[in-house]
Amino acid sequence: MKIKVENSAKNTQILCGFVLEKSNKVLGLKKLDAKTSSAINQSLKDMEGKLGKLSIIPIPGKKPAQRILLAGIGKKEDITKDTIRYVSGKIAQKVRELKLKEFSIITPPNLITDQISSVSQITEGVKMSLYKFDKFKAEKVENSPDLTIIVSKSKKILQAIKTSEIIADGTIFTKSIANLPPNECTPTTLANFAKTISKKNKMKCNIISKLELKKKGFGGITAVGGGSKNEPKLIILEHNNGPKNEKPIVLVGKAVTFDTGGISLKPGQNMDEMKFDKCGGCTVLGIMKAVSELKIPINVVGIIPSVENMPGGESYRPGDIIKLFSGKTAEILNTDAEGRLILADALSYGEKHFSPKAIIDFATLTGACIVALGNNVAAIVSNNEKLTRKITDSSKKTTEEVWELPLTQDYMDMIKSDVADMKNVGIGRAAGTITAAAFLKNAIKDTPWVHLDIAGVAWTQGAATKEKSYNPKGATGFGVRLILDYLQNLRN
Ligand code: BES
Ligand code: MN
Ligand code: ZN
Repeated sequence: MKIKVENSAKNTQILCGFVLEKSNKVLGLKKLDAKTSSAINQSLKDMEGKLGKLSIIPIPGKKPAQRILLAGIGKKEDITKDTIRYVSGKIAQKVRELKLKEFSIITPPNLITDQISSVSQITEGVKMSLYKFDKFKAEKVENSPDLTIIVSKSKKILQAIKTSEIIADGTIFTKSIANLPPNECTPTTLANFAKTISKKNKMKCNIISKLELKKKGFGGITAVGGGSKNEPKLIILEHNNGPKNEKPIVLVGKAVTFDTGGISLKPGQNMDEMKFDKCGGCTVLGIMKAVSELKIPINVVGIIPSVENMPGGESYRPGDIIKLFSGKTAEILNTDAEGRLILADALSYGEKHFSPKAIIDFATLTGACIVALGNNVAAIVSNNEKLTRKITDSSKKTTEEVWELPLTQDYMDMIKSDVADMKNVGIGRAAGTITAAAFLKNAIKDTPWVHLDIAGVAWTQGAATKEKSYNPKGATGFGVRLILDYLQNLRN
């Protein structure tokens, strides 16, 4: 789909405008002839402007549009930084259903949200909602209709739209690889995606393979990856666009291309969803792609430990004691607690190799996170208040919600082992998300670090996931918009 900007609507197949609840006007719509106006007024009364409600009016004169679409955005006091994104997504899906080739959306005036935010939300909502995972279906979704955004043109507006297109494309890229089935997406496949985006966007890309991982002491990654014939990879991408000696931000993402649980085999129900256990890594790939396309003037490193967690003759086992990249040892009590092992290696490597300003990791790490926060909020666990604050500030802007959980010494004590430096599970099921984070904290010396447990939010999980037009069934790309906001504002 293409996006263009016009000062006013001309000859569009469908002109779409936003309507506040119980209001009698379409926001930003210029005066039309009497006949059309009265048809619109009747429709306004009928649809009441309820959030997400759409109403279509055919226009007899067909000017400036063949149809008008009214899109409810609810009460003014309930408008959030997501409302226009959500309703724009609804509009786009309706237009696609009608099989139209193009549509126009009128940007609401400043009093709802500022116009820069509005055009950004329109762009993101439309692009993201038109993505569908149909790679393996003979019958593909029809072509995406082109969009004209009606707004008074300015350099700032055009720039905002361009930026939002890249951000939306980054999110879509994350979704499209996260949705791939485990037989079509192995650690090697992910490494190849990393190579492709690095070539396109001039990033440095380094892939560390099994033998070298063993030699260099990545005991977590090689233990977890041992049971699969699909060999483990450590993927490292570097976007060097800041001052040469400036410390980078390191992003780490868990990419377990399939998590069977290993020898501590998971029960069968919903096990297919464990193809999404690579979502953290896919998020990092999407962010790196967008960061390089946006040419953000900073240094960012993406590190993705990727494995398949399978039972087999070469699998690691409960009872094993392994040595991590940090030099610390871990007693394995459950091979299904594998994410923390591969992440620990990647975090220690990132800190040692890049001396970063900050480390942020993304992982579908614990089922306990879903018990604690459900499917619409990610958990934050951190060793640094200031960094946490920055991420929560970005979260408020992008509406990808996060909530902080505590990480005090008491939780660190819960992963102490009798026979090794730590064990890879806590005490029973108590505070499972935090004890997993406690394990990760041990991998880092003193670098400011934020861990995002995205187990509940990385893909749609039935009715417990709040319906969002721009997150159709499957992977959501959670974290891409969030961290891009954080990175874009680092210079401010
Ligand atoms: N990938 C899972 C966590 C998960 C489960 C995410 C369900 C989303 C939905 C992780 O590797 C795992 O299996 N964690 C265990 C840890 C336990 C053995 C300490 C869990 O949460 O049960
Ligand atoms: Mn697991
Ligand atoms: Zn896992």
